[in-house]
Amino acid sequence: MSANAAYPYETHDYDVVVVGAGGAGLRATLGMAEQGLKTACVTKLFPTRSHTVAAQGGIAASLGNMGPDSWQWHLYDTVKGSDWLGDTDAMEYLAREAPKAVYELEHYGVPFSRTEEGRIYQRPFGGHTTQFGEGPPVQRTCAAADRTGHAILHTLYGQSLKEKAEFFIEYFAVDLIVTDGACTGVVCWKLDDGTIHVFNAKMVVLATGGYGRAYFSATSAHSCTGDGGGMVARAGLPLQDMEFVQFHPTGIYGSGCLITEGARGEGGYLTNSEGERFMERYAPTYKDLASRDVVSRCMTLEIREGRGVGNDKDHIFLHLSHLPPETLHERLPGISESARIFAGVDLTREPIPVLPTVHYNMGGVPTNYWGEVLAPTPDDPDRIFPGLMAVGEAGCASVHGANRLGSNSLIDLVVFGRAAAIRAGEVIDRAASIPGTNRAEVDRALSRFDALRHANGGTPAAKLRNDMQRTMQADAAVFRTDKTLAEGVQKMGRIAAQMADLKVTDRTMIWNSDLMETLELTNLMPNALATIVAAEARKESRGAHAHEDYPERDDANWRKHSLAWVEGNEVKLAYRPVHLEPLTTLEEGGIDPKKIAPKARVY
Ligand code: FUM
Repeated sequence: MSANAAYPYETHDYDVVVVGAGGAGLRATLGMAEQGLKTACVTKLFPTRSHTVAAQGGIAASLGNMGPDSWQWHLYDTVKGSDWLGDTDAMEYLAREAPKAVYELEHYGVPFSRTEEGRIYQRPFGGHTTQFGEGPPVQRTCAAADRTGHAILHTLYGQSLKEKAEFFIEYFAVDLIVTDGACTGVVCWKLDDGTIHVFNAKMVVLATGGYGRAYFSATSAHSCTGDGGGMVARAGLPLQDMEFVQFHPTGIYGSGCLITEGARGEGGYLTNSEGERFMERYAPTYKDLASRDVVSRCMTLEIREGRGVGNDKDHIFLHLSHLPPETLHERLPGISESARIFAGVDLTREPIPVLPTVHYNMGGVPTNYWGEVLAPTPDDPDRIFPGLMAVGEAGCASVHGANRLGSNSLIDLVVFGRAAAIRAGEVIDRAASIPGTNRAEVDRALSRFDALRHANGGTPAAKLRNDMQRTMQADAAVFRTDKTLAEGVQKMGRIAAQMADLKVTDRTMIWNSDLMETLELTNLMPNALATIVAAEARKESRGAHAHEDYPERDDANWRKHSLAWVEGNEVKLAYRPVHLEPLTTLEEGGIDPKKIAPKARVY
């Protein structure tokens, strides 16, 4: 035990500490442990309960099992999906490495659905096409029925245990430890016995997921509280492209529960109150399989123009009853159950009521495509912050730019979890000693913890969280205007100021959900503030940022990444250039740069 006046703590020394045990965290953990690095994975949830378990439709990779495909087509679709905001090197890395990463998953034991010939089954997903967007939709999304995330998570957890990675389960990461400009560890609170643990490490990997719960209605689990982004902001590092928040077209009306895009991939379609398949009007070529931001906007327009369904004309129908029963049974068993439980609908007979619902954060902690966290300066926008990596939804590499394609999330988790492990194997000096405990930093983290534990103001975290979620839902929505964003920034400023007046009623250390939710709120709040302030500043429309006062994309002025430093209630913005260069030239077998030059984005 080491000393802190109020909180004695146990120290642990590792080469690598991964924070979070979703798809990216487990793939990083496995890759680190396979190389013989002494690896700990610290997670607030039991690994197989991480939010990746809810990923349904599949994982994109140009295997070409169902017809012609190529990584160059996948790259093109990802660039176009990103609305030309993604970093070209990272997107090329993703598309090229995707098949390898999927075959590795297969060999680790992921039970993919199969074709008649025994190959991995692949289904169509929105925005994935052939012939650089000139050909028909491609079947690129590898699926394990509609439980692909569940299958991946269980497999990676088993493999990580086999490789002797050590798991610290139901440990909540309180703060990063920063020593002389480098990350050297993380301070954690063990939820079931109330003890404090300090992990010293040569490399900390943040794999903490997104911050969907900054919004009122989200497909994200209640655990998606942006913990990595919160810790990074408190360490004085910026968050990137936070204004880009994805709304999934088919959250179940009322509950927000996800109905996979795979449902439309298998032939499902949307209708309005007139029974019209309205996507044919907006996206004549790809229709219901246009990119997510496009479909969500079209649904919102239909509702706004009075063609929503239901008593309040405030949602849309998704039809699946025309699909053969064996397709529903074999390919979509999970959503049949979700529709029954969460909408009271038998989808073999009735349409499912759906609504665009917050689903994914394109922004996050800026990294290069190896997962190394960036601490950009005006002179060096790609400066690496030593000792810290971020992967998965917590990170922003940036492959999704202003809008992510469906099924590019699971592939992002495994490609970049794997990349982080490869890189860590190169940069970690195995002979060097593990950094010693930085007592001053630990004390700083624990005094913040203690202040929250004893917070004695007048505002419960639950009330403040509700105010934040409703403001974000109303003012940083599918469509935005100067007016709603300016009001949102004002309201969020007032809400964040009340963090000084928090009240925690339960002071115990063991299973204290009041304290844990308060700590989570301190993570959600900087993510939410960065989102609305960066959105207010961006005077164009791009991907998921649909600004009604600036309806066009403006590449001359806005093809750049936003950076947001959050300190208390204040957000400072700066910008860094998008990486335009591919990793390989045409002569080396890469893509013709002319193919991915910006143009109008139509589906
Ligand atoms: O619709 C879905 O199955 C979600 C997939 C994704 O977000 O990639």
